[in-house]
Amino acid sequence: MRISDFIEKKRDGGEHTEVEIRTFITEMVRGNVPDYMVSAWLMAAFIRGLSHSETVALTMAMAESGDTVDTSRIDGITADKHSTGGVGDKTSLIIAPIVASAGIKVAKLSGRGLGITGGTVDKIASIPGCRTELSTEEFFSTVDRVGMCISAQSGNLAPADKILYALRDVTATIDSIPLIASSIMSKKLASGAECIVLDVKCGNGAFMRTEEKAAELAQVMVDIGKSSGRRMCALVTDMSTPLGLAAGNAPEVREAIDVLSGKGPRDTREICLEIAAQMMYLSGKGELGSCRSQAEIIIDSGRAKAKLGEFISAIGGDPRVIEDTSLLPTAENCVEIKSLSEGFVKDINAEMIGRAALVAGAGRETKSDAVDYAAGVILAVKPGDKVTAGDTLCRIEASDRDKLMRAEEYARAAFGISDEPLERKPLILRTVV
Ligand code: URA
Repeated sequence: MRISDFIEKKRDGGEHTEVEIRTFITEMVRGNVPDYMVSAWLMAAFIRGLSHSETVALTMAMAESGDTVDTSRIDGITADKHSTGGVGDKTSLIIAPIVASAGIKVAKLSGRGLGITGGTVDKIASIPGCRTELSTEEFFSTVDRVGMCISAQSGNLAPADKILYALRDVTATIDSIPLIASSIMSKKLASGAECIVLDVKCGNGAFMRTEEKAAELAQVMVDIGKSSGRRMCALVTDMSTPLGLAAGNAPEVREAIDVLSGKGPRDTREICLEIAAQMMYLSGKGELGSCRSQAEIIIDSGRAKAKLGEFISAIGGDPRVIEDTSLLPTAENCVEIKSLSEGFVKDINAEMIGRAALVAGAGRETKSDAVDYAAGVILAVKPGDKVTAGDTLCRIEASDRDKLMRAEEYARAAFGISDEPLERKPLILRTVV
């Protein structure tokens, strides 16, 4: 196949065959297709779109372009979850121990944070002693012994996605549902789990700004997963306000431990119970309602917290943190943002809180930036809460005093106060199956 014919076909609105797509991806990963040709095809695909069968073929070719996790080595059913990313999303640290405590194997590869969305690997790395780069053998033996493992993904997982994503980033071709869906699902399919629950976020702190777009993306990803034999479900959830109270690595680990101790913010507990229940349901643990009750019992009995401790210990960390969160890194400096007026908290802009946490040192603006594990933003209020002038809205923590000052501007801009009480918006907007 001539690559120029492949590009021309998409430019003219034609439909690719599976063989054509596979050839294109294979040749691209071998380095035989120059960037300008890949970019030309991306723009043609962006404008003309991809059919369901083209999207599935592209996803499978990308998933098989590098290392894949062979979950047949794991005894028992495997389940995974993926969030499209948001501010304060510490759910993996809570959900994986719940689901593993229910007897389902959770073998999870996660990423580092980039920009305003955090990554689970950075949160785990903030726990003293924890290693996040595990060998394949260590990864599988931890899943076997503990029932769960979360590790940094191998550099060679879906290499086709790395090439395509880097070019999409600079050719204005990111915002395409088939291209986003194939990018996310190629990595999920390469990670191997039989049951996958997706949390597709929408709102100002998310990739998809509207519920409709998020639902469309969710449906495409669910259909791709089903076409390759996985049991799938997606939730569309609100990310116009941060999840829970904490944004930042060690602060989020503290909140996760709180939730596993039967405390913590209601919204974080709610979304974790729902995703855990969906994973248990897809894995054959009974009706959805019963899975939800099982998940609640697992948290409230302390089993999930003990499971997190077991996992921390297995990867070299100090398991005492689950009983004493003061062992986590703490920042030397902090500043509180106060309400200037009386009223009701109208909104807390997730993007602004994410930026405040990022510039405080919790995230990376570029891949090589060092992370301050102690840094973050801790909300003192949630939308709908009544405040009077002088009440604390949030606390920013950072090791570096200059960074704190920059973060303050973003955090201040995040809050809107209104005279009228307002109805709280639901967190889980739709379920897509
Ligand atoms: N996340 C991904 O992994 N890929 C995309 O295209 C968008 C978000």
